[in-house]
Amino acid sequence: MKNSIFLEKLRYAHYPPTKYPRFEFDEDKCKHCKACFLACPTTCIQWNEKKKIPYPTGLEKMELACLSCNNCEAVCPTGAIRARGEYRVLKGRYRTTDDRSKEMYFPTPFGKKDLERSFTEIEKELTEVERVIYRRRSIRIFQDKPVPRELVERIIEAAQWAPSAGNCQPWKFVVIVDKKKIEELDRKCAKVLYGIAGLYQGSSWWRSILVPLVSYLMVNKMDQRPIAAIEKVKRSDGIICFGAPVVIHVLMDVRGIGDPILDTALACQNLVLAAHSLGLGTLYIGLIKNGLKYLPKRVSKELGITYPYAIVTSICIGYAKGKLDNPVARNKCPVEWIS
Ligand SMILES: Cc1cc2nc3c(=O)[nH]c(=O)nc-3n(C[C@H](O)[C@H](O)[C@H](O)COP(=O)(O)O)c2cc1C
Repeated sequence: MKNSIFLEKLRYAHYPPTKYPRFEFDEDKCKHCKACFLACPTTCIQWNEKKKIPYPTGLEKMELACLSCNNCEAVCPTGAIRARGEYRVLKGRYRTTDDRSKEMYFPTPFGKKDLERSFTEIEKELTEVERVIYRRRSIRIFQDKPVPRELVERIIEAAQWAPSAGNCQPWKFVVIVDKKKIEELDRKCAKVLYGIAGLYQGSSWWRSILVPLVSYLMVNKMDQRPIAAIEKVKRSDGIICFGAPVVIHVLMDVRGIGDPILDTALACQNLVLAAHSLGLGTLYIGLIKNGLKYLPKRVSKELGITYPYAIVTSICIGYAKGKLDNPVARNKCPVEWIS
């Protein structure tokens, strides 16, 4: 048994056998706004300049460079693009949880009867908090408009009222509002990330040995999905934070008792939900943290990331261009009741 778990961790780690969603596109409905292309976190949705329409693409052995986030569908103002079905890894190291439902479905807070109703109808019976939870989307299309300092302070205030083990409140927020500084850091991290993506991508035989070995040592780090996101960064001239006017690096005090990463994550989600309730858009960014790890210590130091602080994540904040906060379909997670 132990042996088979060991092998499972090594098997199919590099471009694992995967099932991808399928895209449906109605050209007559398309307003050619490019929102689906801009909102895609990877290179999955590309733009045909000649016809002014989107088209889905793959990346190397990924048949589609898609995470099933369905943001292309969420941001489309006319319902011209639909992604149906899920992203599911079928075998090996990153195999998707087996008892997760294969069906993707829109929010059903009141149970099965919601399957027959539109979200607008369901929404009338929801609390304000529930509405924000279901509508919040990752925003990747920002207006070139500054966010008032009072609003940033207000959402950080909301973050601080999150629960934390032993009431340690082990978090710190580093707010960057200088667009040039944001882009400088984007590009520095991007360069490092290209190196990681370079190890993963390519057809040489040694990658199929190296990537499983590295993924065994760097648990949950070497996966095809971030590689597809890095490819998007590459094609966007090294821009990781999508031109957001504000980026907040969220740090944790490593001396926090219990689980300071979890505490800080809870503060982050308070911040994000408060931001959306105030009409702002947000986007969690993991690629900065991943890049910083491999950059000289002085880069982190310039951001105030020194002992006892360590970076947990970065969050982009800004005003969304258009109405992008919309519900999307998800899988049903496994739930077990013990009574
Ligand atoms: C910890 C964390 C890191 C993330 N890093 C990135 C990132 O670097 N780039 C990006 O475009 N999206 C990033 N995302 C956003 C996810 O892709 C997104 O949350 C997911 O696809 C679900 O979409 P939704 O947020 O619209 O519901 C990150 C999300 C989380 C929670």
